[in-house]
Amino acid sequence: DRTVRVALLGCGTVGSQVVRLLREHADDLAARSGARLDLVGIAVRDTAADREPWVPRELLSDDAQGLVRRADVVIELVGGIEPARTLVLAALGAGASVVTGNKALLAAHGPELHAAAEASGADLYYEAAVAGAVPVVYALRESMAGDNVTAVLGIVNGTTNFILDEMATRGLGFDEALALAQELGYAEADPTADVDGHDAAAKAAILASLAFHTRVGIDDVPVAGIRSVTAQDMAEARDAGYVIKLLAVARRVGDDGARGISVRVHPALLPATHPLAAVRGAFNAVVVESEAAGRLMFYGQGAGGAPTASAVMGDVVAAAAHRVGGGNAPRESVYAQLPLLAPEQT
Ligand code: HSE
Repeated sequence: DRTVRVALLGCGTVGSQVVRLLREHADDLAARSGARLDLVGIAVRDTAADREPWVPRELLSDDAQGLVRRADVVIELVGGIEPARTLVLAALGAGASVVTGNKALLAAHGPELHAAAEASGADLYYEAAVAGAVPVVYALRESMAGDNVTAVLGIVNGTTNFILDEMATRGLGFDEALALAQELGYAEADPTADVDGHDAAAKAAILASLAFHTRVGIDDVPVAGIRSVTAQDMAEARDAGYVIKLLAVARRVGDDGARGISVRVHPALLPATHPLAAVRGAFNAVVVESEAAGRLMFYGQGAGGAPTASAVMGDVVAAAAHRVGGGNAPRESVYAQLPLLAPEQT
């Protein structure tokens, strides 16, 4: 029997659900990937902290670097830039496949990670980095590879969609709605990343890079958050037949003479009849427009332990299958270099 050694870095909300799925679905995962997935260790900051009952204590370690050296597939769910960046580069450098949900890392250092993967022939997967369970990374990277995407419009931050929805439907003020989002566990530890649009900007950068086969980093994305949206704005929008949503927008603009890409994140007025206007609560949705397919919409849970773990596990199965000779490597399709246009040019 073939075995693929899996290391998990980080065991929070998502990581603990990954452990659960690895254990509960071991036989199915082996059948689907062609190899037994052997969880060889779980790197955490505090090995003594309380954990879910299914997390095997004997696998916990505070030596992430050492663990990376013993794995074929490394799942990075540490979040943030360091030490995640160093660990992912070490894994890729050693030829391990990396599965990450780290949008901040990808949006800031994507080219460096892709170059490291290419140099060693390693695979880099990141379905969980954008819109949680919603398989929009695969859709853009693989399913749309034969078409030309013209626009991507997304509600890619569940916390802000929840807040705006509570303000719109229940008349809550911003602070009240944010407190509720935090209580329900949607918001990031520091909600600034959510409410000021930076989390959505990281996801916009990743989606734009995939959709337009180019490199867009988080610093390229002009961003406005939702802090200044008031309950009164909401009521006025509704009376006029609109809703206010925080949108991540990436578009191909201009004609053949002067073509480029525009990427931004901002609160937008959407007609109440627009498909994205119907996205309620903490859900995410991404609309993709392309030349041949027309309009597609992807919808589902963009955050939370089990939904995000679902996306992680899909990547783990793909990584394991590719390592044992089945399936395909993830496409790295940077071939067009359409210029990223400055906001005033679009
Ligand atoms: N805080 C993020 C959100 C989590 O609200 O969508 C998922 O990236």
